[in-house]
Amino acid sequence: MKLSAGQAVDVLRAAGEPTRLRILALLAREELAVLELCRVLDQSQPRVSRHLKLLAEAGLVERFPDGAWVFYRLTGAGQAGELVTETLARIDPADPALLRDAERLSAVRSERAQDAAEYFARNAARWDEIRSLYVSDAAVEAAILKAAGSGPFKRLVDLGSGTGRMLTLLGPQAEAALGLDLSQQMLNIARNHVAEVGLERCELRHGDIFGTRLPDESADLVVVHQVLHYLADPAAAVREAARIVAPGGRLIIADFAPHGLEFLREQHQHRRLGFAEPEMGRWLAEAGLAKVRITSLPPARKQGLTVKIWTAERGREGQRTAA
Ligand SMILES: C[S@@+](CC[C@H](N)C(=O)[O-])C[C@H]1O[C@@H](n2cnc3c(N)ncnc32)[C@H](O)[C@@H]1O
Repeated sequence: MKLSAGQAVDVLRAAGEPTRLRILALLAREELAVLELCRVLDQSQPRVSRHLKLLAEAGLVERFPDGAWVFYRLTGAGQAGELVTETLARIDPADPALLRDAERLSAVRSERAQDAAEYFARNAARWDEIRSLYVSDAAVEAAILKAAGSGPFKRLVDLGSGTGRMLTLLGPQAEAALGLDLSQQMLNIARNHVAEVGLERCELRHGDIFGTRLPDESADLVVVHQVLHYLADPAAAVREAARIVAPGGRLIIADFAPHGLEFLREQHQHRRLGFAEPEMGRWLAEAGLAKVRITSLPPARKQGLTVKIWTAERGREGQRTAA
């Protein structure tokens, strides 16, 4: 439905202020926490929060709390969202203020990426032990096997494959497998694990989920196991994972349900403290997948976490999979 003239004025008024326009331009790049916005804009938290409140009231940004942090993302959809997207697209990318913000955001991102890379390099040898601190590995693996179905699979792709646990679990049912990971240290350990179980035709590739561009619809089983909570743009990773799912193929995402263990952010590089079902459901639907099923695995111990396993499918050609 079109905006009324009054609504258009509200949207333009909310966006029509230099800092708020800069905030919209930043959120068009990725979802950001308030403190990250403050750093990039070099403005105090009360000021930035005031601007964000106005943008949220006008329906231009969406606020979502995550543990003790609050993130914001562009609403994007609807007439108001489209008006903002069109406005941003008309601004010269070389505009000095926006360019400076983009550079600062890039510095914040590099810092984050560096911290994560150091964390995985430091902990690669202990990763299997760390993974089992908060969840029951056996229960998760049984649920993953069930979610994958009986196979055999032509091509398995494991995005953020780490030490290769999903490859050794599901690889025996696959004709060919690919594990992609940013950390050489994790990949080195995965190489040993894959060799130990005698997986043939299993490639371990060093690369970024967002930069490697695997071929469209090329895998009938795609797995993203305990990776999304590290990422700045988990929705984009879901889109990327869905893009490579072949017609009739399946995507399995395993991650935590929303939780409040802030120390995982501080000490273990988690960015998001879990994902809510509606959020993940929306991302999967927007990525063109259907038949979403969710398995919930309660914590195995006192300070444990609930693991969610989302399974979704791409319809076969010429046939839309019923949701
Ligand atoms: C928590 S580990 C999970 C590993 C494995 N899936 C498992 O469950 O044991 C997350 C892995 O994602 C990798 N990773 C993080 N960001 C990535 C990215 N943008 N592209 C590829 N791998 C990434 C890290 O290097 C790390 O090995």
